[in-house]
Amino acid sequence: MSASADLKQRLESANQQHLLKWWDDLSREQQANFEEQLTSVDFDLIRRLLEKGSGGAGESIAAKAERATPPKNLVRLADLTADPDLAIDADKKGRELLAAGKVGVVLVAGGQGTRLGFDQPKGMFPIGPVTDRTLFQIMFEQVLARSKKSGVKIPYLIMTSDATDADTRSYLKSENYFGLDESDVLFFKQGTMPAVDDREGTLLLADKGQLSVSPDGHGGMLGALANANLFQELESRGIEYLYYHQVDNPTAIIADPVFLGLHVLRESEMSTKVIAKVNAGEKTGVVVDVDGETQIIEYSDMPTAVSEKTDSDGDLLHWAGSTAIHVFDVQFLKRIAESADGLPFHTAHKKVSHLAENGELIVPDEPNAYKFERFIFDALPMAKNALVMEADRSKEFNPVKNAEGSDSPQTCRSALNLIAVDWLTMAGAEVESGTRIEISPLYAVEPADLDEKIEPGTHYSGEVILK
Ligand code: UD1
Repeated sequence: MSASADLKQRLESANQQHLLKWWDDLSREQQANFEEQLTSVDFDLIRRLLEKGSGGAGESIAAKAERATPPKNLVRLADLTADPDLAIDADKKGRELLAAGKVGVVLVAGGQGTRLGFDQPKGMFPIGPVTDRTLFQIMFEQVLARSKKSGVKIPYLIMTSDATDADTRSYLKSENYFGLDESDVLFFKQGTMPAVDDREGTLLLADKGQLSVSPDGHGGMLGALANANLFQELESRGIEYLYYHQVDNPTAIIADPVFLGLHVLRESEMSTKVIAKVNAGEKTGVVVDVDGETQIIEYSDMPTAVSEKTDSDGDLLHWAGSTAIHVFDVQFLKRIAESADGLPFHTAHKKVSHLAENGELIVPDEPNAYKFERFIFDALPMAKNALVMEADRSKEFNPVKNAEGSDSPQTCRSALNLIAVDWLTMAGAEVESGTRIEISPLYAVEPADLDEKIEPGTHYSGEVILK
Protein backbone atom coordinates (compact mmCIF):
# COMPACT_ATOMS: atom_id res chain seq x y z
CA MET A 1 0.00 0.00 0.00
CA SER A 2 1.39 3.44 -0.79
CA ALA A 3 1.19 6.36 1.61
CA SER A 4 -1.98 8.45 1.37
CA ALA A 5 -1.87 11.48 -0.93
CA ASP A 6 -2.77 13.64 2.03
CA LEU A 7 0.18 12.41 4.10
CA LYS A 8 2.58 12.79 1.16
CA GLN A 9 1.40 16.32 0.59
CA ARG A 10 1.76 17.27 4.26
CA LEU A 11 5.29 15.89 4.40
CA GLU A 12 6.24 17.60 1.16
CA SER A 13 5.04 20.98 2.25
CA ALA A 14 6.95 20.56 5.53
CA ASN A 15 10.06 19.40 3.63
CA GLN A 16 10.05 16.05 5.42
CA GLN A 17 9.56 13.61 2.50
CA HIS A 18 12.60 11.61 3.61
CA LEU A 19 10.47 10.08 6.34
CA LEU A 20 8.74 7.87 3.76
CA LYS A 21 12.00 6.46 2.37
CA TRP A 22 11.36 2.95 3.74
CA TRP A 23 7.58 3.05 3.53
CA ASP A 24 7.43 0.09 1.12
CA ASP A 25 9.50 -2.08 3.49
CA LEU A 26 6.89 -1.74 6.23
CA SER A 27 4.07 -4.18 6.93
CA ARG A 28 0.49 -2.92 6.66
CA GLU A 29 0.30 -2.63 10.44
CA GLN A 30 3.59 -0.74 10.64
CA GLN A 31 2.42 1.60 7.90
CA ALA A 32 -0.82 2.30 9.75
CA ASN A 33 1.04 2.99 13.02
CA PHE A 34 3.58 5.19 11.29
CA GLU A 35 0.90 7.15 9.48
CA GLU A 36 -0.85 7.74 12.80
CA GLN A 37 2.41 8.94 14.36
CA LEU A 38 3.19 11.26 11.45
CA THR A 39 -0.34 12.66 11.40
CA SER A 40 -0.03 13.64 15.06
CA VAL A 41 3.04 15.83 14.39
CA ASP A 42 2.44 19.58 14.28
CA PHE A 43 5.02 20.48 11.59
CA ASP A 44 4.16 24.13 11.76
CA LEU A 45 4.97 24.16 15.47
CA ILE A 46 8.32 22.42 14.81
CA ARG A 47 9.16 25.05 12.19
CA ARG A 48 8.36 27.88 14.62
CA LEU A 49 10.40 26.24 17.39
CA LEU A 50 13.43 25.90 15.10
CA GLU A 51 13.15 29.56 14.10
CA LYS A 52 12.91 30.59 17.73
CA GLY A 53 15.89 28.36 18.63
CA SER A 54 18.02 30.18 16.08
CA GLY A 55 17.25 33.52 17.70
CA GLY A 56 14.15 34.24 15.64
CA ALA A 57 11.62 35.43 18.18
CA GLY A 58 11.52 36.86 21.70
CA GLU A 59 14.14 37.78 24.24
CA SER A 60 16.51 35.04 25.47
CA ILE A 61 16.18 33.71 29.02
CA ALA A 62 19.80 34.71 29.65
CA ALA A 63 18.94 38.33 28.86
CA LYS A 64 15.97 38.24 31.23
CA ALA A 65 18.14 36.68 33.94
CA GLU A 66 20.43 39.74 33.84
CA ARG A 67 17.71 41.96 35.29
CA ALA A 68 16.15 39.39 37.64
CA THR A 69 15.64 40.29 41.28
CA PRO A 70 14.74 38.05 44.26
CA PRO A 71 11.01 37.20 44.50
CA LYS A 72 8.90 39.73 46.42
CA ASN A 73 5.65 37.87 47.15
CA LEU A 74 7.44 35.65 49.59
CA VAL A 75 6.99 33.95 52.95
CA ARG A 76 10.38 33.08 54.41
CA LEU A 77 10.98 30.58 57.23
CA ALA A 78 11.87 33.49 59.51
CA ASP A 79 8.49 35.12 58.77
CA LEU A 80 6.68 32.03 60.05
CA THR A 81 8.80 31.95 63.21
CA ALA A 82 8.43 35.69 63.82
CA ASP A 83 4.66 35.60 63.34
CA PRO A 84 3.35 32.29 64.76
CA ASP A 85 -0.22 33.38 63.99
CA LEU A 86 0.61 33.33 60.28
CA ALA A 87 1.61 29.67 60.48
CA ILE A 88 -1.32 28.77 62.74
CA ASP A 89 -3.87 30.47 60.47
CA ALA A 90 -2.38 28.91 57.33
CA ASP A 91 -2.30 25.46 58.92
CA LYS A 92 -5.95 25.80 60.00
CA LYS A 93 -7.01 26.96 56.56
CA GLY A 94 -5.11 24.14 54.85
CA ARG A 95 -6.72 21.50 57.06
CA GLU A 96 -10.15 22.98 56.31
CA LEU A 97 -9.51 22.69 52.56
CA LEU A 98 -8.37 19.10 52.96
CA ALA A 99 -11.35 18.16 55.13
CA ALA A 100 -13.70 19.78 52.62
CA GLY A 101 -12.31 17.41 49.95
CA LYS A 102 -11.04 20.27 47.80
CA VAL A 103 -7.47 19.02 47.38
CA GLY A 104 -6.05 16.51 44.92
CA VAL A 105 -2.39 15.54 44.49
CA VAL A 106 -0.46 15.14 41.26
CA LEU A 107 2.83 13.27 40.93
CA VAL A 108 4.95 13.66 37.81
CA ALA A 109 6.65 10.34 37.17
CA GLY A 110 7.35 10.39 33.45
CA GLY A 111 11.11 10.98 33.64
CA GLN A 112 13.71 8.24 33.38
CA GLY A 113 16.26 7.83 36.17
CA THR A 114 19.18 8.16 33.73
CA ARG A 115 21.47 10.04 36.11
CA LEU A 116 20.67 7.56 38.87
CA GLY A 117 21.49 4.62 36.61
CA PHE A 118 18.24 2.81 37.51
CA ASP A 119 16.49 1.18 34.59
CA GLN A 120 12.99 0.96 36.08
CA PRO A 121 10.64 3.87 36.79
CA LYS A 122 12.36 5.98 39.43
CA GLY A 123 9.42 5.65 41.84
CA MET A 124 10.29 1.94 42.21
CA PHE A 125 13.69 2.79 43.68
CA PRO A 126 14.11 1.39 47.24
CA ILE A 127 14.94 4.22 49.61
CA GLY A 128 13.73 3.32 53.13
CA PRO A 129 16.65 3.71 55.60
CA VAL A 130 15.88 0.27 57.11
CA THR A 131 13.53 -1.56 54.72
CA ASP A 132 13.15 -1.61 50.94
CA ARG A 133 10.30 0.91 51.08
CA THR A 134 10.26 2.52 47.64
CA LEU A 135 9.83 6.16 46.68
CA PHE A 136 6.32 5.31 45.43
CA GLN A 137 5.43 3.55 48.68
CA ILE A 138 6.43 6.52 50.84
CA MET A 139 4.44 8.86 48.58
CA PHE A 140 1.31 6.69 48.40
CA GLU A 141 1.39 6.13 52.17
CA GLN A 142 1.64 9.88 52.72
CA VAL A 143 -1.43 10.48 50.57
CA LEU A 144 -3.34 7.69 52.33
CA ALA A 145 -2.37 8.98 55.78
CA ARG A 146 -3.36 12.55 54.90
CA SER A 147 -6.61 11.28 53.45
CA LYS A 148 -7.46 9.34 56.65
CA LYS A 149 -6.52 12.31 58.82
CA SER A 150 -8.74 14.61 56.75
CA GLY A 151 -11.62 12.14 56.63
CA VAL A 152 -11.93 12.38 52.84
CA LYS A 153 -10.64 10.65 49.74
CA ILE A 154 -7.73 12.43 48.13
CA PRO A 155 -7.41 11.61 44.43
CA TYR A 156 -3.81 10.87 43.45
CA LEU A 157 -3.03 11.70 39.82
CA ILE A 158 0.01 9.92 38.45
CA MET A 159 1.60 11.19 35.26
CA THR A 160 3.60 8.57 33.35
CA SER A 161 5.29 8.57 29.94
CA ASP A 162 5.80 5.92 27.25
CA ALA A 163 8.97 4.94 29.10
CA THR A 164 7.38 4.50 32.55
CA ASP A 165 3.68 3.80 31.99
CA ALA A 166 3.41 0.00 31.82
CA ASP A 167 5.90 -0.75 34.62
CA THR A 168 4.46 1.93 36.90
CA ARG A 169 0.90 0.70 36.50
CA SER A 170 1.74 -2.96 36.99
CA TYR A 171 3.99 -2.27 40.00
CA LEU A 172 1.40 -0.13 41.76
CA LYS A 173 -1.40 -2.56 41.01
CA SER A 174 0.65 -5.48 42.34
CA GLU A 175 1.17 -3.47 45.54
CA ASN A 176 -2.57 -2.69 45.77
CA TYR A 177 -1.77 0.99 45.47
CA PHE A 178 -0.34 0.77 48.99
CA GLY A 179 -3.84 0.97 50.44
CA LEU A 180 -5.36 3.74 48.31
CA ASP A 181 -8.57 2.83 46.48
CA GLU A 182 -7.88 1.95 42.86
CA SER A 183 -10.60 4.43 41.88
CA ASP A 184 -8.65 7.25 43.55
CA VAL A 185 -5.44 6.58 41.62
CA LEU A 186 -5.82 8.36 38.29
CA PHE A 187 -3.11 7.52 35.77
CA PHE A 188 -2.50 9.67 32.73
CA LYS A 189 0.27 9.59 30.17
CA GLN A 190 2.19 12.59 28.87
CA GLY A 191 2.82 13.07 25.16
CA THR A 192 6.00 13.10 23.09
CA MET A 193 7.83 15.48 20.77
CA PRO A 194 9.96 14.49 17.77
CA ALA A 195 13.73 15.02 17.70
CA VAL A 196 14.99 17.23 14.87
CA ASP A 197 18.36 17.15 13.07
CA ASP A 198 20.28 20.29 14.08
CA ARG A 199 21.59 21.10 10.57
CA GLU A 200 18.82 20.03 8.23
CA GLY A 201 15.75 20.70 10.37
CA THR A 202 14.54 17.22 9.44
CA LEU A 203 12.79 14.85 11.81
CA LEU A 204 14.91 11.86 12.80
CA LEU A 205 13.88 8.22 12.46
CA ALA A 206 14.43 5.75 15.30
CA ASP A 207 13.50 2.95 12.90
CA LYS A 208 12.14 2.58 9.37
CA GLY A 209 8.59 3.19 10.47
CA GLN A 210 9.15 5.14 13.66
CA LEU A 211 10.09 8.70 14.52
CA SER A 212 12.66 9.39 17.15
CA VAL A 213 10.63 11.00 19.95
CA SER A 214 11.07 11.92 23.61
CA PRO A 215 8.69 12.91 26.44
CA ASP A 216 7.32 16.45 26.05
CA GLY A 217 8.42 17.55 29.56
CA HIS A 218 6.33 17.83 32.72
CA GLY A 219 4.60 20.81 31.13
CA GLY A 220 3.00 18.16 28.91
CA MET A 221 0.87 17.53 32.00
CA LEU A 222 -1.67 20.15 30.95
CA GLY A 223 -2.49 18.66 27.55
CA ALA A 224 -2.34 15.16 29.01
CA LEU A 225 -4.80 16.07 31.81
CA ALA A 226 -7.18 17.51 29.22
CA ASN A 227 -6.84 14.49 26.87
CA ALA A 228 -7.62 12.11 29.72
CA ASN A 229 -10.70 14.21 30.70
CA LEU A 230 -9.18 14.71 34.11
CA PHE A 231 -10.19 18.37 34.44
CA GLN A 232 -13.79 17.17 34.25
CA GLU A 233 -13.04 14.40 36.72
CA LEU A 234 -11.51 16.88 39.18
CA GLU A 235 -14.46 19.22 38.83
CA SER A 236 -16.96 16.43 39.39
CA ARG A 237 -15.08 15.45 42.55
CA GLY A 238 -15.11 19.07 43.76
CA ILE A 239 -11.30 19.37 43.64
CA GLU A 240 -10.24 23.03 43.52
CA TYR A 241 -6.53 22.73 44.29
CA LEU A 242 -3.82 20.41 42.99
CA TYR A 243 -0.73 19.74 45.09
CA TYR A 244 2.15 18.94 42.72
CA HIS A 245 5.33 17.04 43.52
CA GLN A 246 8.15 15.09 41.83
CA VAL A 247 8.95 11.41 42.06
CA ASP A 248 12.50 11.92 43.32
CA ASN A 249 11.89 13.56 46.72
CA PRO A 250 10.38 11.35 49.46
CA THR A 251 10.69 14.10 52.08
CA ALA A 252 8.32 16.46 50.25
CA ILE A 253 5.42 17.04 52.63
CA ILE A 254 2.57 15.99 50.34
CA ALA A 255 -0.53 18.16 50.78
CA ASP A 256 1.21 20.27 53.43
CA PRO A 257 -1.61 22.14 55.20
CA VAL A 258 0.48 25.29 55.84
CA PHE A 259 1.44 25.63 52.18
CA LEU A 260 -2.12 24.98 51.00
CA GLY A 261 -3.44 27.48 53.53
CA LEU A 262 -1.00 30.22 52.53
CA HIS A 263 -1.84 29.66 48.86
CA VAL A 264 -5.52 30.33 49.53
CA LEU A 265 -5.13 33.06 52.17
CA ARG A 266 -2.84 34.98 49.80
CA GLU A 267 -5.26 34.45 46.88
CA SER A 268 -2.54 32.94 44.75
CA GLU A 269 -3.31 30.94 41.61
CA MET A 270 0.03 29.13 41.74
CA SER A 271 2.42 28.88 44.67
CA THR A 272 5.84 27.34 44.82
CA LYS A 273 8.15 26.14 47.61
CA VAL A 274 11.81 27.10 47.59
CA ILE A 275 14.90 26.32 49.67
CA ALA A 276 17.99 28.45 50.10
CA LYS A 277 20.57 27.20 47.60
CA VAL A 278 23.74 25.72 49.13
CA ASN A 279 25.91 27.47 46.55
CA ALA A 280 25.67 29.26 43.22
CA GLY A 281 26.34 26.06 41.27
CA GLU A 282 23.58 23.95 42.84
CA LYS A 283 21.47 22.43 40.07
CA THR A 284 18.06 23.80 40.94
CA GLY A 285 15.84 26.17 39.06
CA VAL A 286 15.90 29.65 40.62
CA VAL A 287 12.77 31.57 41.55
CA VAL A 288 13.12 35.24 40.65
CA ASP A 289 11.10 38.28 39.66
CA VAL A 290 11.60 39.74 36.18
CA ASP A 291 9.75 42.95 35.31
CA GLY A 292 7.35 42.32 38.19
CA GLU A 293 6.54 38.73 37.20
CA THR A 294 7.60 35.79 39.35
CA GLN A 295 9.19 33.00 37.38
CA ILE A 296 11.61 30.10 37.52
CA ILE A 297 14.80 30.17 35.51
CA GLU A 298 16.13 26.65 35.01
CA TYR A 299 19.73 26.07 36.10
CA SER A 300 20.78 25.14 32.59
CA ASP A 301 19.50 28.50 31.30
CA MET A 302 21.03 30.63 34.05
CA PRO A 303 24.31 32.36 33.11
CA THR A 304 27.00 31.48 35.68
CA ALA A 305 27.81 35.15 36.32
CA VAL A 306 24.17 35.82 37.22
CA SER A 307 23.98 32.77 39.56
CA GLU A 308 27.06 34.06 41.33
CA LYS A 309 25.76 37.59 41.98
CA THR A 310 25.67 38.54 45.66
CA ASP A 311 23.70 41.12 47.63
CA SER A 312 25.14 43.85 49.88
CA ASP A 313 25.64 41.29 52.71
CA GLY A 314 27.66 39.04 50.42
CA ASP A 315 24.86 36.41 50.28
CA LEU A 316 23.66 34.86 47.02
CA LEU A 317 21.27 37.29 45.35
CA HIS A 318 19.42 34.48 43.58
CA TRP A 319 19.13 32.27 46.62
CA ALA A 320 15.65 30.80 46.06
CA GLY A 321 16.14 27.28 44.68
CA SER A 322 13.06 25.56 43.33
CA THR A 323 11.96 22.36 45.09
CA ALA A 324 9.46 21.78 42.26
CA ILE A 325 6.66 21.52 44.82
CA HIS A 326 3.73 23.65 43.76
CA VAL A 327 0.06 24.30 44.54
CA PHE A 328 -2.23 25.16 41.64
CA ASP A 329 -5.79 26.38 41.39
CA VAL A 330 -7.38 23.79 39.10
CA GLN A 331 -9.21 26.53 37.18
CA PHE A 332 -5.89 28.29 36.53
CA LEU A 333 -4.38 25.14 35.02
CA LYS A 334 -7.49 24.57 32.94
CA ARG A 335 -7.31 28.14 31.63
CA ILE A 336 -3.72 27.63 30.43
CA ALA A 337 -4.49 24.20 28.99
CA GLU A 338 -7.28 25.76 26.94
CA SER A 339 -5.34 28.85 25.82
CA ALA A 340 -3.99 28.87 22.28
CA ASP A 341 -0.31 29.27 23.19
CA GLY A 342 -0.18 27.38 26.47
CA LEU A 343 3.26 26.90 27.94
CA PRO A 344 6.37 27.74 25.92
CA PHE A 345 8.78 25.04 24.70
CA HIS A 346 12.44 24.84 25.73
CA THR A 347 14.93 23.55 23.17
CA ALA A 348 17.76 21.24 24.23
CA HIS A 349 20.71 20.20 22.06
CA LYS A 350 21.22 16.44 22.59
CA LYS A 351 22.77 13.28 21.20
CA VAL A 352 20.04 11.31 19.46
CA SER A 353 20.63 7.92 17.79
CA HIS A 354 18.87 7.61 14.43
CA LEU A 355 18.78 5.89 11.05
CA ALA A 356 21.10 7.34 8.44
CA GLU A 357 20.06 7.63 4.79
CA ASN A 358 21.70 4.27 4.06
CA GLY A 359 19.61 2.64 6.78
CA GLU A 360 22.46 2.29 9.28
CA LEU A 361 21.92 3.20 12.91
CA ILE A 362 24.04 6.21 13.88
CA VAL A 363 25.02 6.63 17.52
CA PRO A 364 26.46 10.16 17.69
CA ASP A 365 29.36 11.24 19.92
CA GLU A 366 28.32 14.87 19.85
CA PRO A 367 24.91 16.55 20.15
CA ASN A 368 23.22 16.29 16.76
CA ALA A 369 19.58 17.09 17.38
CA TYR A 370 17.10 19.35 19.10
CA LYS A 371 14.57 18.05 21.62
CA PHE A 372 11.63 20.11 22.79
CA GLU A 373 10.14 20.15 26.29
CA ARG A 374 7.60 22.16 28.21
CA PHE A 375 8.10 22.95 31.89
CA ILE A 376 5.08 23.21 34.16
CA PHE A 377 6.75 25.95 36.18
CA ASP A 378 6.49 28.32 33.20
CA ALA A 379 2.89 28.76 34.35
CA LEU A 380 4.18 30.86 37.28
CA PRO A 381 4.35 34.24 35.47
CA MET A 382 0.78 33.70 34.23
CA ALA A 383 -0.58 33.29 37.77
CA LYS A 384 -2.27 36.01 39.78
CA ASN A 385 -0.47 36.70 43.07
CA ALA A 386 2.09 33.92 42.51
CA LEU A 387 3.34 33.10 46.00
CA VAL A 388 6.76 31.79 47.04
CA MET A 389 7.20 29.96 50.35
CA GLU A 390 10.52 28.97 51.83
CA ALA A 391 10.89 25.46 53.25
CA ASP A 392 13.51 23.95 55.55
CA ARG A 393 15.81 22.06 53.19
CA SER A 394 16.82 19.37 55.69
CA LYS A 395 13.17 18.48 56.31
CA GLU A 396 11.67 18.86 52.86
CA PHE A 397 14.21 18.74 50.06
CA ASN A 398 16.26 15.57 49.85
CA PRO A 399 15.89 14.33 46.28
CA VAL A 400 17.45 11.22 44.76
CA LYS A 401 19.07 12.33 41.53
CA ASN A 402 22.60 10.95 41.29
CA ALA A 403 24.00 7.48 41.95
CA GLU A 404 26.62 8.93 44.32
CA GLY A 405 27.60 12.14 46.07
CA SER A 406 25.07 14.92 46.54
CA ASP A 407 21.36 14.19 46.04
CA SER A 408 22.03 10.46 46.06
CA PRO A 409 20.30 7.48 47.72
CA GLN A 410 22.80 7.77 50.54
CA THR A 411 22.10 11.45 51.34
CA CYS A 412 18.36 10.85 51.01
CA ARG A 413 18.37 7.84 53.38
CA SER A 414 20.36 9.82 55.96
CA ALA A 415 17.85 12.64 55.69
CA LEU A 416 14.88 10.28 56.19
CA ASN A 417 16.69 8.85 59.20
CA LEU A 418 17.44 12.27 60.69
CA ILE A 419 13.84 13.38 60.28
CA ALA A 420 12.64 10.23 62.08
CA VAL A 421 15.13 10.80 64.92
CA ASP A 422 14.02 14.40 65.17
CA TRP A 423 10.32 13.49 65.38
CA LEU A 424 10.91 10.81 68.02
CA THR A 425 13.07 13.15 70.07
CA MET A 426 10.37 15.84 69.90
CA ALA A 427 7.90 13.24 71.21
CA GLY A 428 10.17 12.71 74.22
CA ALA A 429 11.92 9.48 73.16
CA GLU A 430 15.62 8.84 73.65
CA VAL A 431 17.36 7.76 70.48
CA GLU A 432 20.83 6.30 70.74
CA SER A 433 23.35 7.69 68.29
CA GLY A 434 23.74 5.43 65.25
CA THR A 435 20.13 4.17 65.41
CA ARG A 436 18.54 3.51 62.01
CA ILE A 437 14.88 4.39 62.02
CA GLU A 438 12.15 4.21 59.46
CA ILE A 439 8.70 5.60 60.18
CA SER A 440 5.93 4.71 57.78
CA PRO A 441 3.74 7.71 56.96
CA LEU A 442 0.86 5.42 58.02
CA TYR A 443 2.32 5.44 61.55
CA ALA A 444 3.01 9.18 61.58
CA VAL A 445 2.67 11.66 58.74
CA GLU A 446 3.58 14.65 60.90
CA PRO A 447 5.44 14.95 64.23
CA ALA A 448 2.29 15.51 66.32
CA ASP A 449 1.05 12.02 65.34
CA LEU A 450 3.72 10.55 67.59
CA ASP A 451 2.56 12.38 70.73
CA GLU A 452 -0.11 9.82 71.57
CA LYS A 453 1.93 6.84 70.32
CA ILE A 454 5.29 7.29 71.97
CA GLU A 455 5.75 7.07 75.72
CA PRO A 456 8.21 9.83 76.74
CA GLY A 457 11.52 8.28 77.76
CA THR A 458 11.18 5.29 75.38
CA HIS A 459 14.66 4.21 74.35
CA TYR A 460 15.52 3.36 70.74
CA SER A 461 18.68 1.77 69.37
CA GLY A 462 19.77 -0.51 66.52
CA GLU A 463 17.22 -0.83 63.74
CA VAL A 464 13.70 0.47 64.28
CA ILE A 465 10.70 0.25 62.00
CA LEU A 466 7.51 2.00 63.06
CA LYS A 467 4.60 1.10 60.82
C1 UD1 B 1 13.97 19.61 38.41
C2 UD1 B 1 13.62 21.04 37.99
C3 UD1 B 1 14.46 22.04 38.76
C4 UD1 B 1 14.25 21.83 40.25
C5 UD1 B 1 14.61 20.40 40.62
C6 UD1 B 1 14.25 20.11 42.06
C7 UD1 B 1 12.95 20.75 35.68
C8 UD1 B 1 13.20 21.06 34.26
N1 UD1 B 1 13.83 21.19 36.57
O1 UD1 B 1 15.28 19.37 37.94
O2 UD1 B 1 14.09 23.37 38.42
O3 UD1 B 1 15.04 22.73 40.99
O4 UD1 B 1 13.86 19.47 39.81
O5 UD1 B 1 14.51 18.81 42.39
O6 UD1 B 1 11.96 20.15 36.03
N2 UD1 B 1 9.31 14.49 34.45
C9 UD1 B 1 8.21 14.01 33.79
N3 UD1 B 1 8.19 14.10 32.43
C10 UD1 B 1 9.20 14.64 31.71
C11 UD1 B 1 10.32 15.13 32.40
C12 UD1 B 1 10.35 15.04 33.77
O7 UD1 B 1 7.27 13.50 34.41
O8 UD1 B 1 9.09 14.69 30.49
C13 UD1 B 1 9.34 14.42 35.93
C14 UD1 B 1 10.34 13.43 36.49
O9 UD1 B 1 9.80 12.13 36.57
C15 UD1 B 1 10.63 14.04 37.85
C16 UD1 B 1 10.51 15.54 37.58
O10 UD1 B 1 9.72 15.67 36.43
O11 UD1 B 1 9.65 13.68 38.79
C17 UD1 B 1 11.85 16.28 37.44
O12 UD1 B 1 12.55 15.83 36.35
P1 UD1 B 1 14.13 15.91 36.18
O13 UD1 B 1 14.39 15.92 34.74
O14 UD1 B 1 14.77 14.88 37.02
O15 UD1 B 1 14.47 17.35 36.76
P2 UD1 B 1 15.79 17.94 37.43
O16 UD1 B 1 16.80 18.21 36.38
O17 UD1 B 1 16.23 17.15 38.57
